[in-house]
Amino acid sequence: MATVDRVNDSTIGRPRRVVADLPSYRPGKGAKQAEDEHGITDAIKLASNENPAAPLDPILDAIAAAARGVNRYADHRATPVREALAAKLGVDVAQVTVGSGSSGILQQLFFGFVDPGDEVVFPWRSFEVYPVFTQLMAGRAVQVPLAADLGADVGALVAAVTDRTKLLFLATPNNPTGVASTTTELRTLVEQLPGDVVVCIDEAYREFLDPGFGDPVAELVPDHPNVIVTRTFSKAHGLAGLRVGYAVGHPDVIATVDKTLLPFAVNGLAQAAALAALELDDVIADGVAGILAERARVEVELAASGWTLPNHQGNFVWLATGERTDDVALGLERRGVVIRPFSGEGIRVTIGTSAENDRFLTTLAELT
Ligand SMILES: Cc1ncc(COP(=O)(O)O)c(C=O)c1O
Repeated sequence: MATVDRVNDSTIGRPRRVVADLPSYRPGKGAKQAEDEHGITDAIKLASNENPAAPLDPILDAIAAAARGVNRYADHRATPVREALAAKLGVDVAQVTVGSGSSGILQQLFFGFVDPGDEVVFPWRSFEVYPVFTQLMAGRAVQVPLAADLGADVGALVAAVTDRTKLLFLATPNNPTGVASTTTELRTLVEQLPGDVVVCIDEAYREFLDPGFGDPVAELVPDHPNVIVTRTFSKAHGLAGLRVGYAVGHPDVIATVDKTLLPFAVNGLAQAAALAALELDDVIADGVAGILAERARVEVELAASGWTLPNHQGNFVWLATGERTDDVALGLERRGVVIRPFSGEGIRVTIGTSAENDRFLTTLAELT
């Protein structure tokens, strides 16, 4: 009998080696899961940078109305959402795409541009899908250490690019550190790169960013056809569970991304909710302001307890817990506060409701 070259623990079929070697995706732990594991009740989840507020009524109404049509496929291209975004952003509709969360669009960029062996450059630590998607395409991840302020190191990123580089990702604000890059820094980066490297500026947390950092859609996309900016309805708009994100860039890059869109990837409920959210700028801005006020309050308390904090610009904070990370994370979790640990480095804690933030602060103080 022929011997089987087992590349992983799957006994069925022969997965691609790069997939077999991938760890399974582990989303942030849920409150229920922590309750079951530790025999507790009342756990809270501050682990996935979600918006703690329930969806707004007009959004719920739009979803309920759209639910009547779910026997039909939705518009594959989410055309009305593209049109509404283009009008809002003052760009041509051919410059906008809509995907299944901005993660979906990030993955489409990999499908569109990365052949086996191609290099993908990004700061590290950053959003975890960048190395995962690179591996899925059998590309080579080039991870560039963050600068001392825990933001992107523009000079080091430029130096890391070679003629095999196809894509460069830069999350601003960066997940998990929260540190953002100004458009001046981003322009310095883009101007030093070859024009055939596509630069994805990942602005999942755009709405929480201090406006002084600038707007890459207005300031970079018009002059740099190789720049694409991704954004999402998951965070400020509170639609994480519906999976809708968008990107703005040159029509040619958008057309490449569009070729890789899974059929009907953005469902009708998500499209209806996004369209409704786009009519609610003021209310959504109020929600963001509330989260920023809470973040400031949490930062003051943490600083008073002796923590050195980076310049957070997202809806989360980063604590450099270093070697104590696993202990701190487990201690918090056993007491019902689920956060996102990065072993040996630090913990990322989402800003929740006032009561949730108080619970986190009090629990942390008990532990440290
Ligand atoms: C930096 C960054 N980019 C993109 C995303 C993806 O968000 P979504 O796929 O929900 O749009 C996240 C989510 O946590 C993120 O942190």
